[in-house]
Amino acid sequence: MEKVLVTGGAGYIGSHVMATLGRRGLRCVCVDNYANSSPEAIRRVEALAPGTVEAHEADIRDTDALRRILATGGVTSVIHLAGLKAVGESVAEPERYHDNNVRGTESLLAALADSPVRRFVFSSSATVYGHPQGVPISESAPTAPQSPYGENKLEIEGLLARLAKDDPSWRVINLRYFNPVGAHESGTMGEDPSGIPNNLMPFVCQTAAGRRPQLSVFGTDYPTPDGTAVRDYIHVMDLAEGHVAALGALAAARDGTVMTVNLGTGRGISVLELVQAFERVNGIAIPRVLTARRPGDVAVCYADPSLARQALGWTARRTLEDMCRDAWHWQSLNPEGYRKAAA
Ligand code: UD1
Repeated sequence: MEKVLVTGGAGYIGSHVMATLGRRGLRCVCVDNYANSSPEAIRRVEALAPGTVEAHEADIRDTDALRRILATGGVTSVIHLAGLKAVGESVAEPERYHDNNVRGTESLLAALADSPVRRFVFSSSATVYGHPQGVPISESAPTAPQSPYGENKLEIEGLLARLAKDDPSWRVINLRYFNPVGAHESGTMGEDPSGIPNNLMPFVCQTAAGRRPQLSVFGTDYPTPDGTAVRDYIHVMDLAEGHVAALGALAAARDGTVMTVNLGTGRGISVLELVQAFERVNGIAIPRVLTARRPGDVAVCYADPSLARQALGWTARRTLEDMCRDAWHWQSLNPEGYRKAAA
């Protein structure tokens, strides 16, 4: 059976990717240092897709540990999700971000060089576009990351492009995610941020649960229909299926292929539209205050998803209502995230 090395497999995206691969009959070798994730997520994946995950606690900067894991054999491709991802934190600690994200990827590539693995899917981000010059954003739009985190993503895309140029036996797909939200339909897996959530959907969920008194809506004077900022929210299970499609595309691709593909819905949703959809679908009021813009925020950001359709045969299928329902289902069944269950 084909095995996929998944770095950061215990994280929010990784757990949904592994469950999706497992349900399709693929085995995952997970490498995670649990710096911002919980081994409980692995148990949840195992419950959904029994016998499909082999989990290792290791840091991707530990090249020898990766070599030992790869030496057990059978891995044919890698999905690289491990990394630090808080934009504000990356501004405060750029060296730590570079070390984890860029040097971590270099270490992974060094370990892979000694293995037969030559298919690489990288978890990149729409953050590389910075303040877009227009929407929808296609992959050929100029890149201008606004944070060390965004710079890390672009630098890693560059590393992978050079890798495949120097050794054309490699095949690479960079997936630029827009705004992943929602949770597995079962309610057993979802996003589990530590501390006060930075992102909108987790904050809405914790407000609905009474853990936060109210949501601050950051900015009501954007040039958008209701004045609040617009994003391309994508259901995490659609995103996970995008990774399966990427593996399929790599299997069919020519050696030396390097593709960069947006994963988004192509539909822009405002902050207020998302909050109102959440209230309607779940029948819960979200107390909110309208406040000033959050510094650095983009007004409008959504994908041109046509390349994903052409090159991967993938499109997002789930609706905003699905995202709101599934996010709340997870939150209400797991009010403390994975922590309570793991204790
Ligand atoms: C953020 C990151 C981006 C990352 C993405 C992951 C920044 C500048 N960008 O994007 O790099 O890839 O998350 O999903 O941090 N909002 C509120 N109230 C809140 C929280 C958010 O009104 O309490 C608004 C924001 O101002 C924004 C929208 O909701 O307009 C979405 O915010 P968020 O979920 O943080 O995503 P991004 O800012 O798009």
